Amino acid sequence: MCWSHDRNHAGTPRPSTSTDPILVLSGTGKTGSRIVDRLRGAGHEVRPASRRSTPRFDWDDRRTWPGVLEGVSTVYLALPLTATPVAEFVDRAVASGVRRLVALSGRGADHWKNGFGREMLDLEHAVRTSGVQWSIVRASNFAQNFDEDVFYDLLVAGELALPVGGVPEPFIDVEDVADVAVTMLTSNDWVDRVVEVTGPEALTWDEAVATIARAAGREVRFTDIPPEEYPAVLRSQGVPAADVHALETMFAELRRGLLTEPTDGVHQVLSRRPGTFADYAVRTAAAGAWS
Ligand SMILES: NC(=O)c1ccc[n+]([C@@H]2O[C@H](COP(=O)([O-])OP(=O)(O)OC[C@H]3O[C@@H](n4cnc5c(N)ncnc54)[C@H](OP(=O)(O)O)[C@@H]3O)[C@@H](O)[C@H]2O)c1
Repeated sequence: MCWSHDRNHAGTPRPSTSTDPILVLSGTGKTGSRIVDRLRGAGHEVRPASRRSTPRFDWDDRRTWPGVLEGVSTVYLALPLTATPVAEFVDRAVASGVRRLVALSGRGADHWKNGFGREMLDLEHAVRTSGVQWSIVRASNFAQNFDEDVFYDLLVAGELALPVGGVPEPFIDVEDVADVAVTMLTSNDWVDRVVEVTGPEALTWDEAVATIARAAGREVRFTDIPPEEYPAVLRSQGVPAADVHALETMFAELRRGLLTEPTDGVHQVLSRRPGTFADYAVRTAAAGAWS
């Protein structure tokens, strides 16, 4: 790794080296895949890990854990939406020689209500109490949810209906989240720190969808629906029960209106402004995402 042995934290005696692979959990996901590319581009050895990687990693199959942890001293942790035994994994990681943990969490985690984000709170607690170096990047809603995730099918079908109550969101470009996470993985400056990252401006969901529609040259309508209608809408779209709960509670949290102000987290870490939603939409449309 890029830092010297840390004397202030517990851990195994094995010193890290610049050739230790960096383990990237959710290495096929929106942040993980970009972090893998960046680290490889900078010459690091990287081990992406998920159910589709070799070696395979599955949160639900503990036999897959030792293989991905072998020889690793740094780990990026992004969790799936389903429940994971994250505290147990972190204990095992530290016992096997890991000395730095960088975790992805959600913006405003200190104030969440409505049962949102239990898994992310467990992750934050696990890394903070791990005894090794940790950093947490808390992100607002990703712009890429519109082209790589849950909102994509609805957008291309022409209508997105969500229970947002008119509350705006400072969507963040995942490219910025990946840049911040890579900095935390490879520099000493962010050890034992939490950084909240957002895009540079809050847009209503209506404005965000209109921005994509303009960039993509297609008609897409946004409808703000009553919260009580949302679970049935999700179930009719075939969304798994765990994801229904996660999305329902996330929008309940957003509707409280406490997460609308942009932060300067990207600037703190990267000394530059975060990308705008319009830039994301134009770039992503040009790549053919919504064609
Ligand atoms: N999306 C957002 O706007 C947002 C904003 C802030 C924070 N977050 C948080 O960020 C985290 C990641 O969310 P995301 O939306 O960005 O998802 P993602 O990382 O794009 O996708 C989920 C990842 O989990 C992996 N995965 C699923 N089940 C697994 C299992 N049983 N074992 C191992 N890996 C598994 C998937 O890989 P395989 O299918 O290859 O296994 C995939 O790489 C979540 O904690 C979320 O709450 C998300």
